[in-house]
Amino acid sequence: MSMDTAKILVVVDYDSVKDLLSETLAQYDVQFTTSREVKLEIDRIGPDAVLLVQPEDGSGIELIQYIQNELPQAIIIFLTEKQDFVLLRDVVRAGAVEYILLPDELNLLNDRMEKIAELMHQQQRKQEASLSGQPFARGRGKVISFYSGKGGSGRTQLSSGYAQALKLESANRVLLIDLNLQYGGVETFLSLDTNRTLADLVPVLHEMNENHIRNVTQRELHSKLEVMLSPRDAETAEQMTEEFISRLIRASRRSYDYVIIDLPTHMDELTYTALEESDQIYYVMTLDTPSVQGFRLVGNLFRQLGIDTEGRLEIVVNMVSKHNEFSVADLKGLIPVPIAAQIGMDQREVQAAVNQGVPLQKTANEKKLGPVAKDIRKWVLSKLT
Ligand SMILES: Nc1ncnc2c1ncn2[C@@H]1O[C@H](COP(=O)(O)OP(=O)(O)O)[C@@H](O)[C@H]1O
Ligand SMILES: [Mg+2]
Repeated sequence: MSMDTAKILVVVDYDSVKDLLSETLAQYDVQFTTSREVKLEIDRIGPDAVLLVQPEDGSGIELIQYIQNELPQAIIIFLTEKQDFVLLRDVVRAGAVEYILLPDELNLLNDRMEKIAELMHQQQRKQEASLSGQPFARGRGKVISFYSGKGGSGRTQLSSGYAQALKLESANRVLLIDLNLQYGGVETFLSLDTNRTLADLVPVLHEMNENHIRNVTQRELHSKLEVMLSPRDAETAEQMTEEFISRLIRASRRSYDYVIIDLPTHMDELTYTALEESDQIYYVMTLDTPSVQGFRLVGNLFRQLGIDTEGRLEIVVNMVSKHNEFSVADLKGLIPVPIAAQIGMDQREVQAAVNQGVPLQKTANEKKLGPVAKDIRKWVLSKLT
C-alpha cells in the first residue's frame, strides 16, 4: 500500500485548522470529520490512518483509546497546539504513534506521512504473515514481566529460563529484554557478551521498528532466543525516559509473539511504565517472611500508583524445597493472588550452568534436565496448550 491509496481520516473541530490541514495534505485521500462525529463514522470509513486534532474539551486521549479499540490496525497521529509533557506521555500510552505541535511542526507532517506509509507496509506484511499461520495476530504480541519487590528472588533466573524454554519448545518469536538498566543480569545466565544494548535504540526512539530491534539483539547460542541486553550503566540508565520504555515495549510487541521482561526491584517511572504495558506480571516470591512483607509493600505501592493489576498479576513461587520457612499452602493463606507456578531449588544445577556458561535448558524436549529447568519447562508447556 502506498500513501496515495491509503485512507486518511482527519478529526478536527476548528475550520482554520481544517483549512490548514487540507492544504498540507492535498495530495492524499483525506476525509474530514469532527470529534463529535468520529465515533459514529470511524467504523464505516475504516481509515488506515487517523490524524486527530486535540478537541477543545480535551477528549483527545479518550478518542485515541476509542479508535485503537475500534480499529487496532489504524495508525493514529495526534496534533495539538499545546506543548505538554504529561499530555504527550498519555497520548503515547494511549497508542498514538506521533505527537505533532501545531502550527510549528506542520511542515513535519508530510515527512511523517512517509513514515506512516512505511508503517503500513510493515503492518500489511505482518498481517499476511499472521494469516499464514503465525501464532498471534500482529501488534498483539504478549508482554510478560517478571517482578519482585525483593532482590534475589530469582526474577532474572526465571525470566531467562522462561524465555529460553518458550523459544525452544514452540515456534513463537520470543524476545527477552533486560530492564535492569544499572546492573543487568540476563547476560550471566545466558552467557552473552554485552557489546550491543537497548541503549543503542535511544536515537531511533521515534521510528523504532523491527530492524532496529534486530540490530541490537543477540541470539542465545542454543535456542537462538533473541535477547536485548541492559546497558549496565547508571548514567545511561538515568537518561532513559518513560516514553522510550513505552515505545520500546510497543515496538517489540509489534514484532514478536512474546516479549519477556526482566525488571529491577526498584520502583521508578520506568519500572512503572513497563508494568503498565504488561499483559501478564509474574511476581516472583520465595517462601519466607521477608518475601511476604515485600509483596504487601508492593501491593500498597501498586494501589498508590494506581497500577491496576486485576487479572494480570500472578505469583511464581521460587526455590521451593524441604527447608523453606513455610509451605506453598501456607502462602496461599497469606496472599490472595493466584499462583502460576512453583519452581524447585537446586543450587548445584544453577551454579554448574553459570560456571559452564550454558543456559539451564539447551534443546527442545531435553531429557536430562535438572529440577529447576524441568519445572520451568513444565510451566511454559502448560501455557502453550
Ligand atoms: N530455583 C532456584 N534454585 C537455585 N538457585 C536459584 C533459583 N532461582 C534463582 N537462584 C539463584 O539465586 C540467585 C538470585 O537469583 P536472581 O535471578 O539473580 O534474582 P533476582 O533477579 O530476583 O535478583 C542467583 O544466584 C540464582 O542463580
Ligand atoms: Mg535480577
